[in-house]
Amino acid sequence: MRHIQPLSTLLLVFAKLITVRASETMTNVSNLELNGIDISASKMRHIKGVSLMLSSLCLVNTLSQHKQVLKLPCLYNFASFKKSTHFPFFNLSQMSSTSYFVTGGNRGIGLALVKELSSDAKNTVVATAREPNSANDLKDWAVKHPNVKIVQLDVSSSKSVEAAAEETAALLPDGLDVLVSNAGVLKDIGKYLDHPDELYIEQFNVNAVGPVRLVRAFKPLLDKKDTREVAVVSSLVGSLNVELPVGFSGYGVSKAAANYIVKGLIQELSPEGYSLVAVHPGLVGSDMGDDTFVQLGNEVSGQLKSALPLLTPGESAKAIKENVLTDLKAKNAGKFLSYEGSELPW
Ligand SMILES: NC(=O)c1ccc[n+]([C@@H]2O[C@H](COP(=O)([O-])OP(=O)(O)OC[C@H]3O[C@@H](n4cnc5c(N)ncnc54)[C@H](OP(=O)(O)O)[C@@H]3O)[C@@H](O)[C@H]2O)c1
Repeated sequence: MRHIQPLSTLLLVFAKLITVRASETMTNVSNLELNGIDISASKMRHIKGVSLMLSSLCLVNTLSQHKQVLKLPCLYNFASFKKSTHFPFFNLSQMSSTSYFVTGGNRGIGLALVKELSSDAKNTVVATAREPNSANDLKDWAVKHPNVKIVQLDVSSSKSVEAAAEETAALLPDGLDVLVSNAGVLKDIGKYLDHPDELYIEQFNVNAVGPVRLVRAFKPLLDKKDTREVAVVSSLVGSLNVELPVGFSGYGVSKAAANYIVKGLIQELSPEGYSLVAVHPGLVGSDMGDDTFVQLGNEVSGQLKSALPLLTPGESAKAIKENVLTDLKAKNAGKFLSYEGSELPW
């Protein structure tokens, strides 16, 4: 470190000298032709000046990180420059694009997540629908946002999940950054003993086994990137440590199983660099939320709404993006989180 400070100053003086020399040379040139395009000498001076300034900053940056003193990671090399996460003025990694795969993207929280994530044109969002032909809201959004691609998917079928993974691999040849398992069903929530076997099985199939099928089929695509992030939209009702005013029978069981599965996948996949979270999206006025209020009746749904804020799908999605998906790896991996980022008991 003692040698780095004076060396850094020396190199800066050197860069300054080159800049002056370059300016002198450029004033003697009236016009240049670069790749067939005429560039005036004054524009060329600007380009040269900016390049030299960046080179100097990169040198100082490299030195301040006291890595290899004379290795110039970004002198006119914008590919390695992009990787310089310690750049002093702005972090280019935050400006890079992210690819998302969102299930159940045709309505409710899923559609709102697709809108939220694809509003940044640098991101690519693959959104799924069981019936793309009738997914009008999603199709309308995709027409105006070419960074949204629609893929058919039914998470209750391994065949369908594998086909979706294959189609997505063609859309994202460089791999997938973030998998968001959002699709879910809530059937009749009556009493446990009155709840039919078929409904236990159907909700378990979609809400609990669905995320396993997804991670299994999409792992080769996630493996291609270092990001390797998975968010499973679960529910507070899946927590074994929260007292609820009513039982959620087959749905609650399936979400408790989904949490158990996320915990298991965290254990299995963390050593491979994966970051997983389970997310409670809040009490949301989607089709599912509205159906639930009808099933619960006015009195209980009134109690629920006065105890918990009722969110729109858009509010839930925005909060999930900001508090859970952003910095997932750094802050949130391995947790069961509420949409506002607070930790919930599994
Ligand atoms: N709303 C709430 O208050 C609340 C609270 C806690 C947790 N959640 C969870 O949040 C997630 C999203 O719920 P939401 O409120 O947005 O519900 P929603 O409005 O009913 O939407 C559910 C989405 O899941 C899709 N889906 C259902 N079964 C599927 C299957 N077998 N394969 C693929 N997609 C399927 C639906 O597609 P189709 O249009 O084809 O049916 C739809 O896109 C769910 O996992 C839910 O359990 C919601």
